[in-house]
Amino acid sequence: MKTDILRGERLKEAEKRALELTSSIESDLEILEEVITINKAHIIMLWKNNLISKEEVKAILIALRKAKDMNLDKSLEDIHICLENFVIESIGKDLGSNINLAKSRNDQVATALRMRLRLYLLDILSSTINLCSALLVRVKENLDTLLPGYTHLQRAQPISLSSHLLSYVFSLIRDAKRLISCYERANECPMGSGALATTTLPIDRKFLSSLLGFDKPLENSIDGVSSRDFLIEALSDLSLIMTHLSSLSEELILWSSKEFNFVEIDDKYSSTSSIMPQKKNPIVAEFIRAKAGSCIAHLIAALTIVKALPRSYNLDLQEINQHLWSACKDTLNSIEMMEAMILSLKFNKDSMLEAIKDPMLLATDLADHLTLTYKIPFRRAHNLVGALVRVSLESKEDLRDSLKKNIAPISQRLLGKEIKLREEEIDKIFNFKEAVNRRNTLGGVSSKACIEAISKAKRSLEKLNLLILKKRESIEKSFKLLKDYEVEAIG
Ligand code: ARG
Repeated sequence: MKTDILRGERLKEAEKRALELTSSIESDLEILEEVITINKAHIIMLWKNNLISKEEVKAILIALRKAKDMNLDKSLEDIHICLENFVIESIGKDLGSNINLAKSRNDQVATALRMRLRLYLLDILSSTINLCSALLVRVKENLDTLLPGYTHLQRAQPISLSSHLLSYVFSLIRDAKRLISCYERANECPMGSGALATTTLPIDRKFLSSLLGFDKPLENSIDGVSSRDFLIEALSDLSLIMTHLSSLSEELILWSSKEFNFVEIDDKYSSTSSIMPQKKNPIVAEFIRAKAGSCIAHLIAALTIVKALPRSYNLDLQEINQHLWSACKDTLNSIEMMEAMILSLKFNKDSMLEAIKDPMLLATDLADHLTLTYKIPFRRAHNLVGALVRVSLESKEDLRDSLKKNIAPISQRLLGKEIKLREEEIDKIFNFKEAVNRRNTLGGVSSKACIEAISKAKRSLEKLNLLILKKRESIEKSFKLLKDYEVEAIG
């Protein structure tokens, strides 16, 4: 067990169970690299502002270089103390004691969380874009693949498979835009906030913030150590992504059932049963659907933990961190799995076509035609077609056949005038391919509308890619500067 550099003369020994319960060492592993980087930047800032000597900065930096492999002692409260301990043990109290001058674990942890989250957000963004690109591959292949669109899970109108898949692409593009905006709020630096009230020393917060790749320091030190809205916002954005993936998973699960038989999920993402040899179970899709639930639970946990905390730092905040990391990892894995699954799906076009063949799906087209060609106001036309549908169901006849027989008497009864449709009009109305391509307005399901949508989606993805690249470059540039100072200090 390590000697506790914190308690020193102030407190008697902590009870082992209390220590184990409150220690964050395990979940702090996630921020080990960030905490080391912050310490490097901080002492370089102190040195450049003549607050510590060249000798100290050099010795501390040399010790920090080895800190990645330090032994993580669970009897210590957290990674911050563990690192300070390691440095002081490596180079002695005379040279190492100023490592925590003008900083606190409170500003340090808030900064490290933002830095680690930053990387997760960029990785999640990149994987979201990859998933969109994978979907677009399948969109392009399926411009002419028709299937029923559903409302209330009842067959509604014919659509193209492309338009259906595009609906996910555009949801995910909005998710990505939300992440970019979240990134911008997360990328402000709490360092220099100290425990809550900054410091009596003349430090340079802007310099420190720029060394760590942040856009700027946070404006208020109490806010800096108290606030976790940046990560709650991230959890909320991740929950939305996971919700979209969960819907997509749900559809893949439904569509791969014998009842639908629209799709086959690759064996790689399926399992079988320990007793029923015929089974092929869509377990990866089920896993993603369940992880969406966990992600939402992490969001609710974080909100509930912060909701009644007084300012500024309270140890309750530590409890949130593991929720954040679990949500980030689950989201990243789910997106990557979904991309692989989408690329390897086999669509069963014949089953889709079979499901679309019911002329009932074109009842709206018939009503539209009556309004457009015969100037029957839409609600009246809708009622007339409703009556035809009813008769067709009662007589167990195809809507098309029933229409031919019954439109004249029913229109006479409902509208007071007789309507008759010509054979070629009926052929046109009940042509499924034409029906899909008639829906040609902006955002429509026709192949032309889908082709336009593909270009728009691609443009959005390119813009997003550029933003991600810029953000990664900006972090790299700052770290390069930090490295240069490190080299200068160590000589
Ligand atoms: N382990 C803490 C966390 O993760 C770090 C800050 C602790 N600060 C304190 N004064 N006890 O939030």
